[in-house]
Amino acid sequence: MAGGVVVNAGGGKDYPGKLTMFVLFACIVAATGGLIFGYDIGISGGVTSMNPFLMKFFPSVYHKEQEAERNQSNQYCKFDSQLLTMFTSSLYLAALVASFCAATVTRVAGRKWSMFGGGVTFLVGAALNGAAKDVVMLILGRVLLGIGVGFANQSVPVYLSEMAPARLRGMLNIGFQLMITIGILCANLINYGTAKIKGGWGWRVSLALAAVPAAIIAVGALFLPDTPNSLIARGYTDDAKRMLKRVRGTEDVEEEYNDLVAASEESKLVAHPWSNILQPRYRPQLVMAIAIPMFQQLTGINVIMFYAPVLFKTLGFADDASLMSAVITGLVNVFATFVSIVTVDRLGRRKLFLQGGTQMLACQIVVGSLIGAKFGFTGVAEIPKAYAAIVVLFICAYVAGFAWSWGPLGWLVPSEIFPLEIRSAGQSINVSVNMLCTFIIAQAFLPMLCRFKFILFFFFGAWVVVMTIFVALFLPETKNAPIEEMVLVWKAHWYWSRFIRDEDVHVGADLEMPSANGNGKVGAGKLGGMQ
Ligand code: BGC
Repeated sequence: MAGGVVVNAGGGKDYPGKLTMFVLFACIVAATGGLIFGYDIGISGGVTSMNPFLMKFFPSVYHKEQEAERNQSNQYCKFDSQLLTMFTSSLYLAALVASFCAATVTRVAGRKWSMFGGGVTFLVGAALNGAAKDVVMLILGRVLLGIGVGFANQSVPVYLSEMAPARLRGMLNIGFQLMITIGILCANLINYGTAKIKGGWGWRVSLALAAVPAAIIAVGALFLPDTPNSLIARGYTDDAKRMLKRVRGTEDVEEEYNDLVAASEESKLVAHPWSNILQPRYRPQLVMAIAIPMFQQLTGINVIMFYAPVLFKTLGFADDASLMSAVITGLVNVFATFVSIVTVDRLGRRKLFLQGGTQMLACQIVVGSLIGAKFGFTGVAEIPKAYAAIVVLFICAYVAGFAWSWGPLGWLVPSEIFPLEIRSAGQSINVSVNMLCTFIIAQAFLPMLCRFKFILFFFFGAWVVVMTIFVALFLPETKNAPIEEMVLVWKAHWYWSRFIRDEDVHVGADLEMPSANGNGKVGAGKLGGMQ
């Protein structure tokens, strides 16, 4: 075995190298791509609860709201307007489509150019939104923001997972989710301030400030190095080796380099990543690329993220108090993400998924029951302050559970499971399913709240039960496994192994195929620990 390569407990290799400042810095800069996504998630809920914004663009919603306040009418239904939700969700449709174009840019031109393109498009969208004169300009701006998000979310997670040394991949990748949560928090804080602006143009400031995170990622991307995987795939083998040495902080990269080249060679045999991904041997990855983002959205998190101020207003908080409560959930979201950053490479992905899911479920049951007990099905009630505070507390515990499980892992796991030949395509599927489900939930939440009332919390709770069982049965542990050797993890899984033939398993020079009967150097038995 060349150099200092050892086979780690999980059955994959530990390549030599350390966490260099260079890689840390590159990952921090790339992760800022999450800011644009987060800023956007956080800004829409607050803006759509500002009266001057509603009066200008959605007067019918504004009147309905006023009337509800006068008549003390059904609280569940006061914000039910399709046009208003179209404002929130148009972005996700645009992001869905854009992520497919981003797949080609990311593969052919390199990851950094997708990030750059994303930042620039988002910047233009922010300008249009800040200057919006009518609904058309508003929605057009949001479509551009969506294209920006599609490109960034397609390229950033892949970039981070390729740059990171295997044993720190979880930590570095979650930088993306951390930036999402910081973006959401900043947006909530900005809304809190701009809602107080007397002239009624606070919403313009909120929307235009999206230009700041856009500029950060656009400029940052220009300085980012390409990943060694991408350089090799595009034929720059010398640059790739130099980069790998720099990234890993050692001259001893021969082994990893050879494995990357082997992965790249294999990927060249694949003419069409899109049709290829449908082959049986990629079935586990394909299923995960669809199931993980779908489940992430079915946790119901974006009900809180988009509509926290609306939701808190529904609970009877005053304008100011509801924005403040959204700030509190935003803070919990950021701090709880650190829990996953420090534990994900030690405890592994599965434990976080299972714990987070259980915690979310418990909170959903409590919140649904508390709201149901007060509002019942009529939706008319006065909620005492202390009661509302307890609801907020459980919403915070729910957000925390998400923030160390489905939040970060919903981006980390899909970005680390695809072999190079289908990585870009696979990540697009992940982004587009995520955006489609976000769109559906954004669009359906207000009408659903109006019709299902507090039962909605139990609806999402039931999904959390399904996804937690899914993870327990079907998601193998991926911590510490080098990204170009992930096939070993699937091959060792009780269920997925049936889709992968022995001859499909190539993992570079040193590790031979783990045959089903354990004859290879790394046998299936050794990989058992990864499940
Ligand atoms: C999800 C978003 C969500 C955010 C909350 C992300 O991982 O993709 O939909 O709003 O987490 O922090």
